[in-house]
Amino acid sequence: FSLQFFVGGNWKCNGTKDSITKLVLDLNSAKLETDVDVVVAPPFVYIEQVKNSLTDGIDIAAQNSWTGKGGAFTGEISVEQLKDIGCKWVILGHSERRHVIGEDDQFIGKKAAYALSQDLGVIACIGELLQEREAGKTFDVYAVLSWDNVVIAYEPVGAIGTGKVATPEQALEVHLAVRDWLTKNVSAEVASKTRIIYGDIPCFFSFWSVNGGNCAELAKQEDIDGFLVGGASLKGPEFATIINSVT
Ligand code: G3H
Repeated sequence: FSLQFFVGGNWKCNGTKDSITKLVLDLNSAKLETDVDVVVAPPFVYIEQVKNSLTDGIDIAAQNSWTGKGGAFTGEISVEQLKDIGCKWVILGHSERRHVIGEDDQFIGKKAAYALSQDLGVIACIGELLQEREAGKTFDVYAVLSWDNVVIAYEPVGAIGTGKVATPEQALEVHLAVRDWLTKNVSAEVASKTRIIYGDIPCFFSFWSVNGGNCAELAKQEDIDGFLVGGASLKGPEFATIINSVT
């Protein structure tokens, strides 16, 4: 079987009004495969600009959301606000939020449950499944009302230095392990329908970041259902190459 390819561009904390105007123009003029779900995640302050200028064929994700309804939570952005400005997705549990900012599994699980309860799609990042079998904690499966709204991004952070993820075949191996975990802990149906995308190893092994050069090789692996791209998603033509790598 093969699931609809999903490519997310995580712009992280990058960009200015001008650079984002250019990136959007590049994406709008690129010829993109139509049977790929494409999502970009600009920094919060540029979401409105992107929403108003980007082609409708690309959806918008936020890079974070709050655990519940808005209110007296200085500096946070609620799921309701994200939906209000047209976001369809939110990235939760990204390795940078875990390891740089210090979010833990419980906090991330709460955010995911709330976002899903409000019908916001969740790009759920997990990273240490093989080492710690933490997926159950990372993402409270009981809180997931509809798996249709979930894409799992596997970031092999825990594999750094172990040599466990070094080739596309090995990346495939961990994707299969995640699917196996879903079969055992959720259901065979969910395991067969949920997209597992490759989020690569941030920081240390940047040569394993998904880019225009290695995407085709990775996309060929049957159980890699897409990518969560960082740096290369800031370059319109290269991001287009990655989106089109499914063919
Ligand atoms: O969210 C994306 C991942 O952290 C990968 O980032 O492609 O810049 O290595 P990168």
